[in-house]
Amino acid sequence: MMNVNEILAPIEKEMLEFELKFQANMKSKVALLDKITHYIIKRKGKQVRPMFLFLTAKMLGEINEKTYQAATLVELLHTATLVHDDVVDDANERRGFFSVNALWKNKVAVLVGDFMLSKVLLLSVENKNYRLLEIISKAVQDMSEGELLQIEKARKLDITEEIYFEIIRQKTGSLIATVCEVAAASVDREDISADMQKFGELVGLAFQIKDDIFDYGTENDIGKPTGLDIRERKMTLPLIHTLSVCSKEVKRELIYIVKNKNEDTKFVKRAVELVIQSGGIKYATEKMNSIIQEALALLKDIPNSEAKKSLIGLVNYTITRTK
Ligand code: IPE
Ligand code: IPE
Ligand code: MG
Ligand code: MG
Repeated sequence: MMNVNEILAPIEKEMLEFELKFQANMKSKVALLDKITHYIIKRKGKQVRPMFLFLTAKMLGEINEKTYQAATLVELLHTATLVHDDVVDDANERRGFFSVNALWKNKVAVLVGDFMLSKVLLLSVENKNYRLLEIISKAVQDMSEGELLQIEKARKLDITEEIYFEIIRQKTGSLIATVCEVAAASVDREDISADMQKFGELVGLAFQIKDDIFDYGTENDIGKPTGLDIRERKMTLPLIHTLSVCSKEVKRELIYIVKNKNEDTKFVKRAVELVIQSGGIKYATEKMNSIIQEALALLKDIPNSEAKKSLIGLVNYTITRTK
């Protein structure tokens, strides 16, 4: 298994340059906004989306200005959606620190997210990169639809595994799919961009399943709250599967907790226990692994290189990561 430094080796220079561009694009003249974007930059995430972008591009051709532009846009968009997501999920922690909404309240967080989102769109217009603008706008639309579908299902508690996959395809798969698609397009490999899009989508699904498994964890070092999904009545794969295989009694208890005791930590813990005992985590893990195998199969005809090796390493990191 490759570690993160080994994965990064072929794109070290690119990631450094990307970070400078990313930071430059977050600047604002409004002092409050600049303070908040500064706060966000200081607590950077794993940056897996730019990593996927550069590694995919390098595997298929020569990284160029278009690749850099796409990396900046994608990480800006991702960051904006996290700021909004923490408002939506009422989450007070992100990347090991207070979330923007926890420190500055929801109204500020909504506007900061809007600011960053508009930066994304403006930047692609400034670069006259209309194809990128189109693909990115579609991803923004997918992500909001996915989050809204999730809220709709949380209200009715009538989610199936199929709908779960539709939600995570939209809210997480679409952006990583976009990343891999624009990576191929940036190095003029339109011939393979559809395959790369599919590859990214599958990786994104596995990425979100892993995230949803984390929420059932007891470790507190993932940098964000756990148990939040049940609290928000979000039914994810471990719970959906459990409900479809468990006894009537367990099912009744789980539904009762999600419906009526979802804000009570003691009951949420009990639900987590039931899901683990019923094999919900095991099932989700198996599903995640098989999706990753499907994704890797899409790379089989691509010639070997350092970049390809790292990309495979990054795919494996997606499901073995600890945060
Ligand atoms: C979190 O994404 C949101 C999901 C799609 C699960 P990341 O886990 O990539 O977040 P950061 O950027 O590393 O904090
Ligand atoms: C992913 O869903 C959010 C987005 C794709 C914007 P979650 O709500 O599970 O993400 P975390 O756990 O807060 O990072
Ligand atoms: Mg969330
Ligand atoms: Mg989550």
